Amino acid sequence: MTTVLAIETSCDETAVAIVKNREILSQTVASQVATHQVYGGVVPEVASRQHLEIVNACIEQAIATAAQPWSAIDGIAATCAPGLVGALLVGLTAAKTLALVHDKPFLGIHHLEGHIYASYLSDRQLHPPFLCLLVSGGHTSLIRVADCGEYEQLGATRDDAAGEAFDKVARLLGLGYPGGPAIDRTAQAGNPQAFALPDGKVSRPEGGYHPYDSSFSGLKTAVLRRVQQLTAAAGADLLPIADLAASFQATVARSLVQRTIRCALDQGLTTIVAAGGVAANSELRRQLHAAAATHDLTVQFPPLSLCTDNAAMIGCAAAERLARGDRSSLALNARSRLHLTAANQLYQLA
Ligand code: KG4
Ligand code: ZN
Repeated sequence: MTTVLAIETSCDETAVAIVKNREILSQTVASQVATHQVYGGVVPEVASRQHLEIVNACIEQAIATAAQPWSAIDGIAATCAPGLVGALLVGLTAAKTLALVHDKPFLGIHHLEGHIYASYLSDRQLHPPFLCLLVSGGHTSLIRVADCGEYEQLGATRDDAAGEAFDKVARLLGLGYPGGPAIDRTAQAGNPQAFALPDGKVSRPEGGYHPYDSSFSGLKTAVLRRVQQLTAAAGADLLPIADLAASFQATVARSLVQRTIRCALDQGLTTIVAAGGVAANSELRRQLHAAAATHDLTVQFPPLSLCTDNAAMIGCAAAERLARGDRSSLALNARSRLHLTAANQLYQLA
């Protein structure tokens, strides 16, 4: 059994968890949403400062709740990439310091590997290979997971990530930040068929469409045009916000589901795992469950709290890495960008 204390500060949640393999012993998530809401999005400097103010209290709380002595902790981990560098640095420095003080191995974890590992926390029997639909604020990918550290990206977005599209359309509709949950809530009262919107196919130079890639910028622009037309015709006060939100959300879900099912079938993968903040979306969950059932595929969504950023997923990935002998150097730095397929570079040979 491997027990890890993990810290996640890549964006606007300060999160600390203690995880024993695939079991969460304790976890805290201090959200900064209220702070950034005023600005309509995450302000990096403000995020770093807030992480700094609260990270120690989160660590203390995680330790107290897990009721584990330091001797029971086998390693200390933190998200080191990708993310806001100033924000990442806070968690990374805290983790390195704890590793030094308590003489424990230190591991830097790739944030997206963490999102994939959220699935192991909700289904302890899950094992690769499987197809992961990873949809977050910064990423939209279809990844074949063959093993820990063995990731093949089969599809991606050519422009905006799915979560980014939710956030931008929410702003356009005056629904505020964070956009995904606001659109999800508003769409419950709307008609998803009210507006026909483009589902973002990506053409190939040789003709036809890329089967697994998506594009959300055209969809975002189509919503903008609709809003402009409707405002010109009837005024901003009469905008059918719920119908627009429902039509947008259903289009994003349809486009992701079509590509995911096709990819799973082509690859002969019978298990689909969804991960990342957008995997919390109710319409995506509904459509993917329904489509998977008609093709006899198994689909797994982590609970909502493990879809969005948290430290338990980082701890779960770190526990497996540690058990395999992976260790990071204390000289490891925070990186704003790092492809998931480069995650193994974060470790030295033990
Ligand atoms: O994974 P995550 O918490 O952070 C990143 O790694 O980016 O994802 C955040 C994204 C945001 O764009 C947010 O609007 C979106 O996930 N999101 C949702 C929902 N909940 C969060 N999008 C659609 N529907 C939701 N219910
Ligand atoms: Zn994330």
